[in-house]
Amino acid sequence: MGGFKKKILCIGAGYVGGITMAVIADKCPDYRVALVDIDHEKIDKWNSDNLPIYEPGLDEIVKRRRGKNLFFVKEMGKAIEEADIIFVSVNTPTKMFGAGAGMAADLQYWEKTAREIKKYARSDKVIVEKSTLPVKTADAMERILSAENKKVHFEVISNPEFLAEGSAIRDLEEPDRILIGYKDTPAGKRARDDIVELYAHWVPKKRIITSNIWSSELSKLVANAFLAQRVSSINSITPLCEKTEADISEVARAVGMDSRIGNRFLNASVGFGGSCFKKDILNLVYICRYYGLNEVADYWEGVVRINEYQKERFVARMMDVMFHTLANKRICLFGFAFKANTSDTRESAAIYIAKRLIEEKAALVITDPKALENAKKDLAGDNAKVEYIEDPYLASKGCDAIAIMTEWDIYKELDYEKIYASMRKPAFIFDGRNILDHKRLFEIGFNVYPIGMPGLVHFS
Ligand code: UDX
Ligand code: UDX
Repeated sequence: MGGFKKKILCIGAGYVGGITMAVIADKCPDYRVALVDIDHEKIDKWNSDNLPIYEPGLDEIVKRRRGKNLFFVKEMGKAIEEADIIFVSVNTPTKMFGAGAGMAADLQYWEKTAREIKKYARSDKVIVEKSTLPVKTADAMERILSAENKKVHFEVISNPEFLAEGSAIRDLEEPDRILIGYKDTPAGKRARDDIVELYAHWVPKKRIITSNIWSSELSKLVANAFLAQRVSSINSITPLCEKTEADISEVARAVGMDSRIGNRFLNASVGFGGSCFKKDILNLVYICRYYGLNEVADYWEGVVRINEYQKERFVARMMDVMFHTLANKRICLFGFAFKANTSDTRESAAIYIAKRLIEEKAALVITDPKALENAKKDLAGDNAKVEYIEDPYLASKGCDAIAIMTEWDIYKELDYEKIYASMRKPAFIFDGRNILDHKRLFEIGFNVYPIGMPGLVHFS
């Protein structure tokens, strides 16, 4: 393919690989960007008008670049052979078997991918770790890639992705920082410069930072652990607020205005979800235990424990205030995505809460503007007991309670008088995201239970 300065391949066309490569293609018209994925249906979707993921702004970019310098392909061998730089963003889920089950990262896809690269490569390649990996993975990868291969040189670089779903395009276009971890050798420096050159197409040089490769791998785990810790920290104060008539949003505002603390990631919620936070913290915990650092491991494990507690507490409060039984009560979940502006439901608090409510024999109705297909897959074993209705008015009709799971803007703007009129009485609202006007809802007639604030209740 003539005319392009460099050829990039990304293995793994999921949320991270797909969106990152679309933006790289958009910002670097002089580079040819290809994506390959073992899931060929996904590749077909990337090549259609119905992309496999929903992310604001993504459709436009893909339309703009696809077929010009952005390609979604199925043939792995050819794609590897042609590429100068190979990003790997295959998934690294929590390992569910054997040593480290439930904690460690499952590296089988990574290793398999490294072996594929080795099999097809005929010329030197820069291999970029985009997936979040345990510290020291680059070492293992280099050993696999270099074994019995004298002719081709593979240089492994760490370049973790910090995008958050829902704001991914902006996060990529205006990143706080780009982190590039490299080995301090002549080949390592050359590879580092290649990746710096790529990002320098649109990212100011002062925001492109480099470090040793292990620091880079570890920084990604630690960044996610810190972010999750903030959510767990604020959530850990919510039960105390509910007991003492303090208001968590007032506490968060007062605490967050301290410039040393900062005001972001202090929204109390029903619990954090997403594919990264829990997985990455458990991975960090596992590595600490591996090195015998049990105090450190316990400290970070606490972040996950508080999150589990927060989800369970939400259901317990529903039970408690709805007269200690949920059996046959109709409960409508507003939102199923793990956060607003995404169709992604991985590790969403809504999954746990839906399953617990089903256990309690409640009749569930789920509504979400983008995530109903994923919700059906998540609750596949229980679908007989769940209704999925996209229109929130129809979904909440005849229900005893509404529980807000996702902070979608549309839920702030609904006509709650109309909703109240269509519900069974007494009608309850549990605001798991504190996005609604609680006083107003109370005036309409609802019994209102926000997170981290005392309930507004019509009976004593
Ligand atoms: C995933 C991980 O969750 C994250 O930790 C990591 O940083 C990047 O990869 P994400 O892109 O959100 O994040 O995952 P997902 O949407 O599941 O995409 C991974 C893709 O890799 C899938 O499309 C899967 O089919 C593909 N894959 C997986 C391969 O192409 N080859 C494999 O061997 C395994
Ligand atoms: C996160 C990191 O932010 C990102 O840098 C990394 O690359 C991947 O993991 P993501 O999981 O997509 O991104 O979304 P994020 O915005 O971090 O939210 C994670 C979860 O925390 C969501 O369930 C969100 O609703 C919840 N959250 C976030 C809160 O409950 N309160 C907050 O104040 C912030």
